[in-house]
Amino acid sequence: MEKNENLMEKLVSLCKRRGFVYQGSEIYGGLAGTWDYGPYGVALKNNIKNLWWQKFVTDREDMFGLDGAILMNGKVWEASGHVGGFADPMTECVKCHKRFRADQVGEKCPDCGGAFGPVRQFNMMFKTQIGAVEDSSATVYLRPETAQAIFVNFKNIVDSFHPKLPFGIAQIGKAFRNEITPRDFLFRVREFEQMEIEYFVKPDEWEKNFALLQEEIKDYFKQVGVTFSDISELEVPAEDRAHYSKRTIDFEFEYPFGRKELCGLAYRTDYDLSQHTGASGQDLRYFDEAGGEKFIPHVIEPSLGVDRVVLALLISAYTEDELGGEKRAYLKFNYQMAPIKVAVFPLLKNKPELVEKAKEIYLALKKEISSVAFDDNGNIGKRYRRQDEIGTPYCVTIDFDTLGENPELKDTVTIRDRDTGSQERVKVSELTQFFKDKN
Ligand code: GAP
Repeated sequence: MEKNENLMEKLVSLCKRRGFVYQGSEIYGGLAGTWDYGPYGVALKNNIKNLWWQKFVTDREDMFGLDGAILMNGKVWEASGHVGGFADPMTECVKCHKRFRADQVGEKCPDCGGAFGPVRQFNMMFKTQIGAVEDSSATVYLRPETAQAIFVNFKNIVDSFHPKLPFGIAQIGKAFRNEITPRDFLFRVREFEQMEIEYFVKPDEWEKNFALLQEEIKDYFKQVGVTFSDISELEVPAEDRAHYSKRTIDFEFEYPFGRKELCGLAYRTDYDLSQHTGASGQDLRYFDEAGGEKFIPHVIEPSLGVDRVVLALLISAYTEDELGGEKRAYLKFNYQMAPIKVAVFPLLKNKPELVEKAKEIYLALKKEISSVAFDDNGNIGKRYRRQDEIGTPYCVTIDFDTLGENPELKDTVTIRDRDTGSQERVKVSELTQFFKDKN
């Protein structure tokens, strides 16, 4: 399908209609830069996160999981450089007083045509107070990246597990940024999730490990089902790199609103561990038994925004075609990513014998396969359309032949394929295996 202008509108509306994503605080008029994931959105996001965790943590021997606190001692962010430097250039319209990112607007306000005031640096960290006393010693920040929890736990992991270099610490969790202009649905939000790895290496082995992780990221996107030809790699020039990075590759995706960053891969050198060594007074060096020396390892960091992967996958999966002479829209998720793998219907909702049999088959399938739905709302055509929009790869219908009206077809059901609309008759006893083979 050609990506058209209305694609974002269509996606936002489908996501709301079908229970993927709702506007944050919607009944109060919303809160800019926040979105709430509904039942199918949570399922999709979990599939994206689970695949990442399985691929980068569970299936490997050199990765350690972590789930650090969102609130951290304020000194962490001073040492990391975020208090001093995690800022975007901001400008304000002198007429309507709307604020914009200075690097994203022209000379006049896009809303009212007014002139802009001077550009100033705006720190993007959300500040809050801890405890009952409101003084500066009680100031803490909502973390703007999950990475720092990994650096401050480096010594804990080394002391508990004695890993050999290279090894990584991985974390999935919320991050918060007070973006000046949140926009483009899930793309630029103020509260989002990151999947990050800090991969610790010997200083002279960073290039080799950078290249290995670069390939793994590409492989992950292939498995998720993001349109691979719409991903490109950008070597970020030195002047655009974060303060800690000596090399960064941005993986960009062709979103309908332009080619934009999907995730990043950075060589953070020994910057963070050195900074925390200096600020905390703790010895964060690693003792290399083979070489008999202590040194601060260097770090390669793949950092993926979960919400940007969700959006790229929704865009990749959204398909319009004609089936049986009718136009339709559907989400072409692969089996592993689909929030619902199989939907089970009774042909008619007002025939108790059909509903009972359908429920029995549904419950049996549910024990064997995760994410099976029972759907008896509306007529069969409406159910297919709903399941197509949810991205359900297979629908199973229980009809009178299942019950034995045609004795030759007793205990068989029809399975309808989402992409082709084609149907086949399969024995109930072979259903589970049928879906297991598709996975
Ligand atoms: N620890 C490194 C780091 O945080 P980053 O490039 O600032 O690097 C990493 O962010 C990833 O987090 C981005 O590639 C993007 O996927 C995601 N991300 C960053 N800001 C975001 C925002 N405002 N909304 C959604 N995702 C965001």
